[in-house]
Amino acid sequence: MTVVKNICCIGAGYVGGPTCAVLAYKCPDIKVTIVDLSEARIAAWNSSNLPIYEPGLDEVVFECRGKNLFFSTNVDAAIQEADLIFVSVNTPTKKSGMGAGMAADLAYIESATRRIAEVSTSSKIVVEKSTVPCRTAQSMRTILDANSTSEIHFDILSNPEFLAEGTAIKDLLNPDRVLIGALQTESGIEAQNALVDVYTHWVPKERVITTNLWSSELSKLAANAMLAQRISSINALSAICEATGADVDEVAFACGKDTRLGSKFLKASVGFGGSCFQKDILNLVYLSQQLNLPEVADYWQQVVIMNEYQKKRFVRNIISTLFNTITNKKIAVLGFAFKKDTGDTRESAAITLIKDFMQENARVAIYDPKVEPQQIYMDLSEPGVVDTQKEVEKKVQICQSAYEAADGADAVIIVTEWDEFRDDQLDYSKIYAGMHKPAFLFDGRLLINAQKLRQIGFKVSVIGKNELAGTA
Ligand code: UDX
Ligand code: UDX
Ligand code: ADP
Repeated sequence: MTVVKNICCIGAGYVGGPTCAVLAYKCPDIKVTIVDLSEARIAAWNSSNLPIYEPGLDEVVFECRGKNLFFSTNVDAAIQEADLIFVSVNTPTKKSGMGAGMAADLAYIESATRRIAEVSTSSKIVVEKSTVPCRTAQSMRTILDANSTSEIHFDILSNPEFLAEGTAIKDLLNPDRVLIGALQTESGIEAQNALVDVYTHWVPKERVITTNLWSSELSKLAANAMLAQRISSINALSAICEATGADVDEVAFACGKDTRLGSKFLKASVGFGGSCFQKDILNLVYLSQQLNLPEVADYWQQVVIMNEYQKKRFVRNIISTLFNTITNKKIAVLGFAFKKDTGDTRESAAITLIKDFMQENARVAIYDPKVEPQQIYMDLSEPGVVDTQKEVEKKVQICQSAYEAADGADAVIIVTEWDEFRDDQLDYSKIYAGMHKPAFLFDGRLLINAQKLRQIGFKVSVIGKNELAGTA
């Protein structure tokens, strides 16, 4: 029976960092080394200012670091020492070439796998952790098999990560399930059992699901696609609500009470973001096309189309409410992260919205409690365009508080549902006092009590509700 004593994690990002930190925390008998090519990222992991913000992460890292948790740029040494290697490198959507805009770019996975093949001096269990298209494990196996010898053997497992940002530590400590896929061969099953033993240090055995390799890979894409589909479904209904006077919160509540549906993930919003949903759906679309299943591809594509529509619909509503022009008007955007409790901005709806505001020549003031100004400038700049950041800086002001952003603004737009923007936390009377009148407020997150803010004097629009809801 294989017993895992030494784990290496390649990729110290949003997935690899928290996942393997929690693993070290819960398995004091296992040495965990997280490696990355980026010296800056590793230096940050070794400092008091960790490179990602995630509630509870500091405590876990500070507890284990230097004991059984290490961060290093020495990728080769960590690979050589390990019995089990998690591959948690980035898998962005391809920007060019075949499958551009849809397929995942597997260059990082391939180079990490090649490195494992080149430097290993003993047998390894290699675990794909990053979200990848189905059959990636097959490509990894081909590379590893070509380099295996009678002494060095590689087993491949798929162990997709289901953590959500902002609640990563909670999700990792108490997961709904852990999924481990393996080839159903003798050595594949032995490797699978070895990883089961690692997780059962803290996860109840009945929550550790073992499947074949391909089911595991597809389940990750399927789970994310279905979650995103729920959001697109409620967002589609939010448009009907606004047009009819139904209230999307009431509709979601009533539907969610059906135990077959469940109440989670039915919050209408300005659109989903994050590094996973869109990427994974597009992977599924691409896979379906490759498998010659166009109807299936179209079905999933519609989830992304609806998400884009929701963002555009929100912008159109803002412009038409502001008398069909926002030129030179000051728009205060509250929140830039793709959801609360994270500093991550990947695919954030804020980016699409603000680019549209800039196109209309509005002046945009942004406040987010966790996102660094440099990140905002980068996200709003067009890649490859000279001086684009300077252009962005002319149109965009980054503020230290919601009050500063709203000062002199014509409209306040809530884009991220940070708790501090709630109407029992932020002083909306003070915000109102500083704004141009009429003072407009657009809530893209169903965060505030519209009636209460209308009493202050705001002209309020909320996604999925119209002003006359319930009275017409
Ligand atoms: C997601 C999956 O939840 C997680 O299991 C997977 O491992 C990675 O992808 P994440 O992207 O971190 O996690 O966050 P999530 O909470 O799923 O939110 C994604 C987006 O959907 C956010 O922009 C969020 O604001 C939005 N959302 C979520 C809604 O608009 N409404 C909802 O009801 C829920
Ligand atoms: C449905 C709703 O469930 C019910 O709440 C509403 O009041 C009326 O419509 P019904 O049509 O009687 O009820 O049966 P339901 O159990 O929902 O099944 C509908 C169809 O979906 C059936 O053909 C069923 O075989 C199929 N189905 C259901 C599946 O194919 N897979 C499933 O997982 C569930
Ligand atoms: P995710 O959200 O999937 O964790 P991130 O981009 O946050 O994605 O993290 C992925 C990390 O993987 C990056 O820090 C990147 O530098 C690292 N990485 C990519 N390729 C390699 C490699 N071959 N060896 C080591 N680290 C790598």
